[in-house]
Amino acid sequence: MSQSSTHTNDTPAPASSRPSGEKQGKRPHRHRTFSLLGSASEIQRDPLAFLLRTQQLGEVVRLRFLFSPAYLVSDPESIKHVLQYNARNYNKDLITYTMFRPLLGQGLLLNDGLSWLHQRRLMQPAFHRSRLSTYGTLMTDATVTMLEQWKSSFEKGTPVDIAEEMMRLTLQIVGRALFSLDLNQEVGTIGYAVTTLLQLFVDYVFRPFPPLSVPTPRNRRLQQAIRSLDQVVYRLIAERRTHQMEGDDLLSTLLAVQDAETGQGMNDRQVRDEVMTLLLAGHETTANTLTWTWYLLSQSPEIERRLHLELNEVLGGRVPTVEDLPNLKYTRMIIEETLRLYPPTPVLSRKAIGHDELRGYPIGANSLIMLSPYAVHRHPALWEEPERFDPDRFGPERSATRPAYAYFPFGGGPRVCIGNHFAMMEAQLLLSTIAQRYRLRIIPGHPVEPQMVVTLRPRSGLPMTIHATERAGRQHS
Ligand code: HEM
Repeated sequence: MSQSSTHTNDTPAPASSRPSGEKQGKRPHRHRTFSLLGSASEIQRDPLAFLLRTQQLGEVVRLRFLFSPAYLVSDPESIKHVLQYNARNYNKDLITYTMFRPLLGQGLLLNDGLSWLHQRRLMQPAFHRSRLSTYGTLMTDATVTMLEQWKSSFEKGTPVDIAEEMMRLTLQIVGRALFSLDLNQEVGTIGYAVTTLLQLFVDYVFRPFPPLSVPTPRNRRLQQAIRSLDQVVYRLIAERRTHQMEGDDLLSTLLAVQDAETGQGMNDRQVRDEVMTLLLAGHETTANTLTWTWYLLSQSPEIERRLHLELNEVLGGRVPTVEDLPNLKYTRMIIEETLRLYPPTPVLSRKAIGHDELRGYPIGANSLIMLSPYAVHRHPALWEEPERFDPDRFGPERSATRPAYAYFPFGGGPRVCIGNHFAMMEAQLLLSTIAQRYRLRIIPGHPVEPQMVVTLRPRSGLPMTIHATERAGRQHS
């Protein structure tokens, strides 16, 4: 299997294809399961456990909560149907996204229909493979700068919060790569606002009243967080417009674009929505992937040893380049396996526009459809020892027999993550640059627990101590 096809569910499979995967033939034949269960409080208490438990009840499980009929859909064929084959029947006009609208507006992530298609086509070239290769050096440069800053913690033996460090790093990278922005000053403001928003979002899903327009303390905090992000983004747009800076980055494209018929450009609000969407969608997810990778590596010395062997062999101490990526196969498999166990977007949601059928079940118009990479990636009928961290699952042979949507950390179909190749390249470059110099170890006794706050973060951060990797001295000395 090619490197990208392990995670990119964006090419239609032949109609005859059937789930096979590592557990081909062992899957219990469970069709037409249709259950009623669940309550908001149960989900609120432990959403991840709820997802795992519920998917065991069947391929299409009806949930009794929220505002409309809701279904958890867990078999790869039906997931493919929703995301790919019949994608036109599903949109993002969901009440659960209401809170994100003031933040992301009509940006790509929440947009729908023709407007979405227009914007997606406009932005796609910035994510083209040939374009991505130009971002490699800025990714490793930013990482090397971070490593310089880690030196004193390394020497003193003081821990650093890896979750926070990965956020800072990936935010700087996405700002520089797509918008030529130096976000050094703004990293703190953005980080705080994003954390606040994600926490308030979870609260809002379970307690939607009073609505956002009522100035309760919660809603005021929310507006404040959005305002502080707005200030940053509008200022950056204004600076670019005022200085008429020439550039060939995505921000220039967004500012220069004109409607073929009207000749009108995008207004500041539209540009702001896209910039905000890409800054947020483009850093938190990759940061979480790397954070969980460091955690998993710290728990798996044998896998870490194989990683170091590959790095020594391929790089021999030098900083990686984009050309090295095809040779850093095990490094990539580690990232793919992390994305299986801790997919940064643990649940994808859609609204059914019209009536449909999934595995013979009628799905009414306006139903909420939930697809959970987190749950499906741990489905015991699809994965051998699903809880085990085992990057070898992503070797070519075992990947080849896996049904496409048994693994979908980047979604799939027309709305597959636009940044998927960007993210994989970034994760591979950052992991190999850092791991060549340092090994990271969690503070003994520190609780590490995944928390679903839209994305999947470690609930109490990830303080780790920094230790030298063999051959590290040859890298940047
Ligand atoms: C490991 C990192 C990442 C993961 C796991 C991830 C995951 C996802 C997923 C699952 C979706 C589909 C959501 C849905 O169908 O409802 C998505 C969409 C999207 N992602 Fe990512 N993402 C990552 C990195 C990035 C990066 C680096 C960027 C940009 C620089 C980005 C920008 C977007 C955008 C704009 C969309 C909306 C696409 C559309 O609807 O047309 N993501 N991402």
